[in-house]
Amino acid sequence: MHSTDRPRRLRRDGVRSLVSEIDLRANDLIAPVFVDATTDERVPIESMPGHERVPVDEAVARVEEVLETGVEAIILFGIPESKDAEGSRAWAEDGVVQRATRAIAAETDATVITDVCLCEYTDHGHCGLLEPGAREEPTMTVDNDATLDLLARTAVSQAEAGADMVAPSSMTDGMVGAIRTALDDAGFEDVAIMSYAAKYESAFYGPFRDAADGAPAFGDRRHYQMDPANGREALREVRLDVEQGADVLMVKPGLPYLDVVNTVRREFDRPVAAYNVSGEYAMLHAAAEKGWLDLDAVARESLLSLKRAGADMIVTYFAEDIAPDC
Ligand code: PBG
Repeated sequence: MHSTDRPRRLRRDGVRSLVSEIDLRANDLIAPVFVDATTDERVPIESMPGHERVPVDEAVARVEEVLETGVEAIILFGIPESKDAEGSRAWAEDGVVQRATRAIAAETDATVITDVCLCEYTDHGHCGLLEPGAREEPTMTVDNDATLDLLARTAVSQAEAGADMVAPSSMTDGMVGAIRTALDDAGFEDVAIMSYAAKYESAFYGPFRDAADGAPAFGDRRHYQMDPANGREALREVRLDVEQGADVLMVKPGLPYLDVVNTVRREFDRPVAAYNVSGEYAMLHAAAEKGWLDLDAVARESLLSLKRAGADMIVTYFAEDIAPDC
């Protein structure tokens, strides 16, 4: 064979690392943390090995464990002490996330991102107020516009507690604009919004719904989360969030939607986040437990793929495992 172009020349040890296009960095990773107001002990999450729900008074200790690995940012999810039709514990001043945020902000240097959604707080498990009659005839399920005010209140209460960034995940039309206005009116102009801008109605969220106890009691989320068949529609969704003031654009799930991550990277000038979701974590663990995959290698390759597709930051349950070797 005679060819002047031999890509293998650059794969030799010592050269390979010089020409690598992307890197995983600990400070691009965001670790999810679950705080549970119904327990006074740490509870392992069975379908997410290595993860736990922690009581509020262990939130700081849990975040310190994350920080020790080199990860600097966490995203907080709460399991409230009680649920109701409106999800009122989501915006309570003494709510589980608000108490945990206050403690973490006071006692650690972590960057605190709070998930803004109602599904963990409503007794029906949907991400907003129900339409009248939704239980009998689950057509539209969530009353979009009536939900906006509740999301805005939740975001403001989290900012008051000390959140650096709020992350609305309910796929309510207009949520970013409503939250931006409410934050600004309350004097939180500097609190950023990381919008779950293109969030799909995905079966990969299964383990999370066990972890956060937020599965819908009836019906599903297909009337508000995106159809997995739609890529072009993601552009429309993301554009709306940009117009409404989103600072960071998130695509969720991650690996099954690399095309969407890449499109958002190329079409918009905002930082892009990818959420490597619970199912993406659980399936690698399950295969590794059987001895079929090398967990560390496939975790690393998953995160590299998300970065290569264009993600600036990744929310991942692997954060603490990967960060020390970054
Ligand atoms: C709340 C929310 C969900 C996830 C993050 N925020 C669940 C859902 O929309 O059903 C899923 C995260 C994961 O699977 O890791 N709406």
